[in-house]
Amino acid sequence: MPATAAPPLLALADRYAAAFPGSKARFEQARVLFPCGVTHDARMMDPFPVYVSHARGAHKWAVDGQQLTDYFVGHGSHLLGHCPDDVVQAVQEQMARGTHYGSCHDLELEWGRLVRKLVPSAERVRFTGSGTEATLMALRLSRLYTGRPKFLKFHGHFHGWHDYVTVSADYPYDVPNVPGVPDDVAKHCVAVPPNDLNRVEDALRADPDIGAVILEPTGGHWGTVPIRGAFLKGLRELCTRQNRLLIFDEVITGFRVAPGGAQAFYGVTPDLTALAKILAGGLPGGCVAGRTDVLAFIEPRPGKPKMKHPGTYNANPLSAAAGVATLTRVATGDPCTKANAAATRLRNKLNELFEAKEWPWVAYGDFSMVRVVPGYRGERPGTQAGVNDGLIPHGNDVNKLDGPKNMRQFYGLRQAMLLTGVDWWGFAGMTSCEHSDAVIDHTARAFEVAIEMLGAEGLG
Ligand SMILES: Cc1ncc(COP(=O)(O)O)c(C=O)c1O
Repeated sequence: MPATAAPPLLALADRYAAAFPGSKARFEQARVLFPCGVTHDARMMDPFPVYVSHARGAHKWAVDGQQLTDYFVGHGSHLLGHCPDDVVQAVQEQMARGTHYGSCHDLELEWGRLVRKLVPSAERVRFTGSGTEATLMALRLSRLYTGRPKFLKFHGHFHGWHDYVTVSADYPYDVPNVPGVPDDVAKHCVAVPPNDLNRVEDALRADPDIGAVILEPTGGHWGTVPIRGAFLKGLRELCTRQNRLLIFDEVITGFRVAPGGAQAFYGVTPDLTALAKILAGGLPGGCVAGRTDVLAFIEPRPGKPKMKHPGTYNANPLSAAAGVATLTRVATGDPCTKANAAATRLRNKLNELFEAKEWPWVAYGDFSMVRVVPGYRGERPGTQAGVNDGLIPHGNDVNKLDGPKNMRQFYGLRQAMLLTGVDWWGFAGMTSCEHSDAVIDHTARAFEVAIEMLGAEGLG
């Protein structure tokens, strides 16, 4: 649907339901199959999620036929867009040769070599089944290496869904217990606000049981509260001085921010890195890439404890095929440059729009990640910002940028954007190298129409 289509005069949710009847019918079936009808928390949507039949490049198609510009990009895994020919061909060829040998194979060697070539921290690589498994492994290795049982993380930083890292991942951040996580597990995590080196130093000094610091290096929830180079450099120095391991969770930023991830871009090398998503080219897979002496705890050695690490799908041939094809292209630098340029263009276009219309909205973000904030009346960003130097609204306050949201407005924007032909992830989105200038300009126009629709509902 073109972004300029005049909407019929119906309430937004009704208009959405009328436009996506196939999704509505499927959701009715899903509600009796799945808790809350969906298979991932992020797919919950009011009144129902959109069902998709296929995808290509920067687009996906709803079962009701609409072409949607996609800003979910496979939860961040599709830097190359949907169904890139080289990845499809590699996976199809591998499919015919075998999906799981239960044996070592050539593609895992090629995949591991590419990770080592691209990621500065990657002296050794161990493949896992997912990003969650990668952070689980990194933390367990840190305990074995340092002999210290605890770790420090940051408010609003997401590291998957295993027990230890769920603490302080979401607002309210200072609640120490998480439903279903035993208190004596949760107490092994010390959480502090991001971007405050003094708080980190105080916490490390106060607690010698903290063996590692883990973070999303461009900011929690893929940059909702951006982190930039100075903080990363400070953390690196602090961890070295205090003899703790520094773990970068580059599950999203790895191969996205730059071919070597945020660590390559900012020139700060962690001891361990958790990777997934783009690593496996849109198929399941993850890895820990880090120091030889730390990953050595996976090896059986006389007199040393060994970390057990089975995992049916570690380095499975299909993921390896997709990963090798994807990382081969990432290594050229071109996909990261294009995706970053697309997001930068979108942030600047949106800020131009908001300024021209005098709407209380602002766009921000770094690299290929874009966010919008409603109800914002503070200092305006420039409209010529670069890839990671734009103004961060609300003084980068975690409680304002990553605090409670107006969910009516959140879902309203999603519905309105879908009605204008864009699948926008709540108040945020990510780009791929397939998001051309024309695609971005269409999205900027879609925002104009969508925010007008929201305004008509009193939510603008
Ligand atoms: C920064 C970060 N770490 C870890 C994970 C968990 O990865 P997975 O979903 O592959 O388990 C995610 C998932 O979105 C993530 O964004």
